[in-house]
Amino acid sequence: MSTILSGIQPTGNLHFGRYFGAVQNWLRLQEEYDCLYCVVDYHAMTMPFQPQKLRQNSWDLVINLLSAGIKPENLFIQSLVPEHTELNWILNCFSSYGQLTRMTQFKDKSAQSAEKQEGFISVGLYTYPVLQAADILIYHATKVPVGKDQEQHLELTRNIAQRFNNELGKEYFALPEALYTEVPKVMSTADPNRKMSASLGEKHNIDLFADPQRIQKQIRSAVTDTGETPAGQMSAGVENLFSLLKAAGQMEAHASLMADYEAGALKQAVADGLVAISDPIRERKAELLADKKAVKNQIKASSAEIRKRAQQTVKEVKDLVGLANVRF
Ligand code: TRP
Repeated sequence: MSTILSGIQPTGNLHFGRYFGAVQNWLRLQEEYDCLYCVVDYHAMTMPFQPQKLRQNSWDLVINLLSAGIKPENLFIQSLVPEHTELNWILNCFSSYGQLTRMTQFKDKSAQSAEKQEGFISVGLYTYPVLQAADILIYHATKVPVGKDQEQHLELTRNIAQRFNNELGKEYFALPEALYTEVPKVMSTADPNRKMSASLGEKHNIDLFADPQRIQKQIRSAVTDTGETPAGQMSAGVENLFSLLKAAGQMEAHASLMADYEAGALKQAVADGLVAISDPIRERKAELLADKKAVKNQIKASSAEIRKRAQQTVKEVKDLVGLANVRF
C-alpha cells in the first residue's frame, strides 16, 4: 500500500479555506492509504515565533484536526520524532546549494522578513525544504498531497532522493510525487479577489470552529458587488459563494440557485451549508477539550509508533553513508 505523507504548519487558525483545500482531502485519503499527517512544528520555527505560542498552536492544531476527523493513529507532531532533523542533516549534504537558493517560497518569505524585522533571515528558512524532504523520505512516502505552491519543494525532494541513490549506488529512496486533487478555490468573503487566508486577518477567513451566528454574520456581509462586473457576468463574490456551496456538498441548492438566484437566498444557503459541516466538528472538539490529557496520550502513542518507522530509516541511512554504527 502506498504511504502518503503531508505536513501542516501550526500557524494561523483552521478556516474553511484550509478545510476545503486540504483537510477534507486528507479525510478521504485516509480511507484508502497508509496516511501520515504531521504537525510541522520545526518548520514553524523558520519565521519569527514565540515559544509558548508555538507549543500551544501545535496542540490546538492537533485537537482541531482530530475534531475534523483525522484518525489519531495517523497524526503526529514532527518534533516528537526527532529523527526528522537527523535525516535533515544528512540530506543537507545531498542538497544543491544553488537549487535551494532558487526556491520561490524562500525568496518570498525572506523578502517579507527583510521588510519586517531588520533583515534577519534564518538559515532555517533557507533549509526548510530539506527538512520537508526528510519528512517525506523518512517514511518512504510516495504520494504527497499538497497545493501547487509546493511543487518546487517536491521536485527538490526527488532530486535529493535521486542524488542519494546515485551516490550510494542503490535505489534506496522511492521518488515521491505530488498528489494534486481537484479542490475548490476558496476566496476571502471580505475581498473575493484574494485567497481565504489566516494571515490576511480575521474578516478574511471563516473559522471552522466559529459559532453558527458568526458564520451567518460573515456570510451575510460577504462582498458580492464590487462594481466592476460586466452585465450578465457573475461577480467574483457571487462566484465564491457558489464555490462554497458546492464545497459544502449542497448540490441541490447549488443547482437550483444557479438556475435562478437572489443574493439573500444564496447567502442563506451557503451559511446553512457551512454550519452543517461545522456543527459536528465543533461538538467533537468540545468532547476532546473535556479530556485534553487523553488527546496528549493518544498523540504520544501515535508519535512513538510512527517514530519506530523513522528510526529504522535513519539506522539504514547511517549504515549506507558510513556513519559510526555502535549500538549503545
Ligand atoms: N511546506 C508545507 C507547506 O507550507 C508544509 C510541509 C512540511 C509539508 N513538511 C511537509 C507538506 C511534508 C507535505 C509534506 O504547506
